Amino acid sequence: AETRLGVDDLVAPLFVREGINEPQPVASLPGVVQHTRSSLRTEVAALRDLGVPAVILFGIPSAKDPEGSEAWNPDGVVQVALRDRRDEVGDDVVLMADLCVDEYTDHGHCGVIENGKVDNDASLELLARTAVSHVQAGADMVAPSAMMDGQVKTIRDSLNDHGYEDVPVMGYAAKYASAFYGPFRVAAGSTPQFGDRRSYQMDPANAREAMREIESDIAEGADIVMVKPAMSYMDVIRRARERFDHPLAAYNVSGEYSMVKAAGAQGWIDEKRITLEILTSIRRAGADFILSYHAKEVS
Ligand code: PBG
Repeated sequence: AETRLGVDDLVAPLFVREGINEPQPVASLPGVVQHTRSSLRTEVAALRDLGVPAVILFGIPSAKDPEGSEAWNPDGVVQVALRDRRDEVGDDVVLMADLCVDEYTDHGHCGVIENGKVDNDASLELLARTAVSHVQAGADMVAPSAMMDGQVKTIRDSLNDHGYEDVPVMGYAAKYASAFYGPFRVAAGSTPQFGDRRSYQMDPANAREAMREIESDIAEGADIVMVKPAMSYMDVIRRARERFDHPLAAYNVSGEYSMVKAAGAQGWIDEKRITLEILTSIRRAGADFILSYHAKEVS
């Protein structure tokens, strides 16, 4: 085989929710739960034992506000979870947390709102603060997903100012305004309360623009770049692979996962073979590693 898919090519996205006593199944993502503080602990240890090298955490706070201030609370849901994980798995697992404010804002957008619109520049400072709080809580790497222009540079500068020069940044560089995120927004409670994300996420019709987005993330200091979603954007992954030498991630997003689960449950597809075929194809297209809700079952 020209292409190999290994357990160590996978990153597991995990949800952790504040204020619950039992893990809550996510209806739109069969097999995925919103974890409690303690069930998350067990899950990360289980993934470590299976050989999954990295996890990315998504926090669901009990309180939201217009700025998303829980996103940088040192005792916020994700910061507490990062500290727990560090105690539990030491350096065995690369720990990341999704760096955005949409799960923390009451309007569900990835930045602050001014005059009914997301204000790009005013949002940068909030992302920088959140990045520092993730690293202080034990994140090995930060993963900005807000698609604000200039976010990688602002975050890089702020990490450096705090003495975190050696913490890498994985930029969600080419992130499309995609309907494939639908099931995730149910899990994270982050559906925008008005409008959509097309002023900051990319038009699915554009591939050349993705190269510009990736180029600017690299120029701003990204250590890893990402294409998201994956399946409908294999050509973008391939172009990015040919054009850039940086490590390249692809995000096999919620809608891609849910479609496989739904058809599998009906007995319409061979779920196991399809899952492996999809992930292998994303690697063949050129991704070095894949963020996927299939990580645990595949492992
Ligand atoms: C933004 C973010 C989103 C996803 C990851 N980070 C949602 C969005 O842009 O609406 C989607 C992931 C998925 O669909 O699996 N914080």
